[in-house]
Amino acid sequence: MMKIAIIGSGYVGIVTGIGFAELGNHIVFIDIDKNKIDKINSSQPPIFEDGLEGLMKKNNGNFYATNDYEVIQDTNVVFICVGTPSKNDGPIDLNFVKDASKKIGRNLKNNFQVVVVKSTVIPGTTEEIIKPILEKESGKKAFKDFGLAVNPEFLREGNAVHDFFNPDRIVIGVKDEESKSILEKLYSPFECPKLTTDLKTAEMIKYTSNAFLATKISFANEIGNICKKLGIDSYKVFEGVGLDHRINPEFFRAGIGFGGSCFPKDVRALISKAEELNENPKLLKAVMELNEEQPLKLIELLKKHIPDLGGKTIGVLGLAFKPNTDDVREGRAVPIIRTLLKEGAKVIAYDPKAVKNFKKLFPEIEYTSAEKVLESDAILIVTEWEEFKNLDYNGKIVIDGRRIEKAKEEARIYEGVCW
Ligand code: UGA
Repeated sequence: MMKIAIIGSGYVGIVTGIGFAELGNHIVFIDIDKNKIDKINSSQPPIFEDGLEGLMKKNNGNFYATNDYEVIQDTNVVFICVGTPSKNDGPIDLNFVKDASKKIGRNLKNNFQVVVVKSTVIPGTTEEIIKPILEKESGKKAFKDFGLAVNPEFLREGNAVHDFFNPDRIVIGVKDEESKSILEKLYSPFECPKLTTDLKTAEMIKYTSNAFLATKISFANEIGNICKKLGIDSYKVFEGVGLDHRINPEFFRAGIGFGGSCFPKDVRALISKAEELNENPKLLKAVMELNEEQPLKLIELLKKHIPDLGGKTIGVLGLAFKPNTDDVREGRAVPIIRTLLKEGAKVIAYDPKAVKNFKKLFPEIEYTSAEKVLESDAILIVTEWEEFKNLDYNGKIVIDGRRIEKAKEEARIYEGVCW
């Protein structure tokens, strides 16, 4: 049993912490948000994540939350899981990481504690920025008096609990033997491949994974756009291509592009770091450019059937950046709805979970039921929620960004973005 502090209770922090609690460790969550603290202390998930509430109830007693960094003094391992948002659409904003590092540094005790960076940070950050802050604030030497490690997360929002217990791999970036053995012990219940690297390689593995997956999506979309013009179903093409084991069929769904709190931010940050190093990351720039244009394909296809959107009621199904989350960050619905409004359309929208968050971005549109959305002049499918597979699309005009087969079969007029 280890005593673990988790700094930051976003979906990565809370799922990692509760996951380790389930594995028999004792967890303290440290957050600045009073609301999150209260929720955690009453075993309520601070965010929506499948399976989390049950695990919190089950392990109630093995964790608590506070805003007091002093509790770190009594822990063996401290995970930094705070956000690293984009600064002006480019490099990452390290303010939360720096602030957390200062407060951790002040509370490092004499026994060997390991600080583990789980937040996604540009290669070099842990040694060049976090380490000096920890050393200055603690008066101790990293890798000697305290441990420092990088342990990137590969959790998908919405599937994070499942992903925590079933990882493809665990990456541990370390420099000193003691941190290595503490992390190996912590991760000993997992049977997947475990890769030990130095600190900045671990940081780079995280960026490269996300950049590759984002590239795979933009690639699928580019091929999908060509297929659409040729009258070919790109899903069949990717099925055929994915059977090559070197390519693999997963994460090959063409559509209206990627959103969320990770891919857009991470690819932008990598572009910005490359440029700082006098490298021109041409491919990554194209990945982002394609992703920005892709959602507007839906409007293009819509206008094929309704050339003038002025005064028309357009229904949007799905506002979350993907199904099973209430997260709307960088969601594809944002540029789509912005364009619809600019063209003079009346927008009505439905999402099973994300309405509350989306309302903060677009208070002016009407939020209603799926059935009401289906009565619009045309319907745009933006997120592939499971329940959209059971709606009645008979007689409707449907422009589909996410491939809902039932809509494809039933709609009076149907356009798929890449098929
Ligand atoms: C992503 C990665 O998948 C995780 O491995 C990683 O840990 C995480 O970022 C992170 O860095 O924290 P996430 O952003 O939760 O996870 O969502 P994904 O399921 O990867 O989907 C991202 C976006 O790509 C969504 O908008 C989704 O609709 C889109 N997508 C995904 C496609 O358009 N096609 C696909 O084939 C797959």
